[in-house]
Amino acid sequence: MRALVLNGPNLNLLGQRETSVYGTTTYESLVEQCRSWGSQLQLLVECRQSNHEGQLIDWLHEAQDFAFVVLNAGAYTHTSVALRDAVAALSVPVFEVHLSNVFAREEFRHHSFLSPVCRGVICGLGPLGYRLALQAGQALASH
Ligand code: DQA
Repeated sequence: MRALVLNGPNLNLLGQRETSVYGTTTYESLVEQCRSWGSQLQLLVECRQSNHEGQLIDWLHEAQDFAFVVLNAGAYTHTSVALRDAVAALSVPVFEVHLSNVFAREEFRHHSFLSPVCRGVICGLGPLGYRLALQAGQALASH
């Protein structure tokens, strides 16, 4: 089973950027962790990151070839109707993940355009959130 992990803007800076909020795990090591959690779950995990909204939308259009998607859209979560429409158009389940607890932060982060069209949402658990999303995707997609 194949899973697609998509990370949006500024997540390439993980480990350097606002470490008190996002922790010290780098993007490269998050990718390594996702691959290794995936192999424990018998999942082939493909990770992609882009700072560009249109690129994330193009990748969501390709996501039909995967069993499910784990999506951390970064700030686009709170702004992008276009990303929401791309998620809504997809028949495979999408799990929204945020490293930080967006509800404990600024009010503009409390609203997500994506949550209503996602299968589930995990936030505030750091990299563990990706692991839990992979686990959930695997469990739900096997049914
Ligand atoms: C984030 C939360 C967003 O509000 C923020 O813009 C990000 C990262 C998270 O993983 O906690 O870039 O998605």
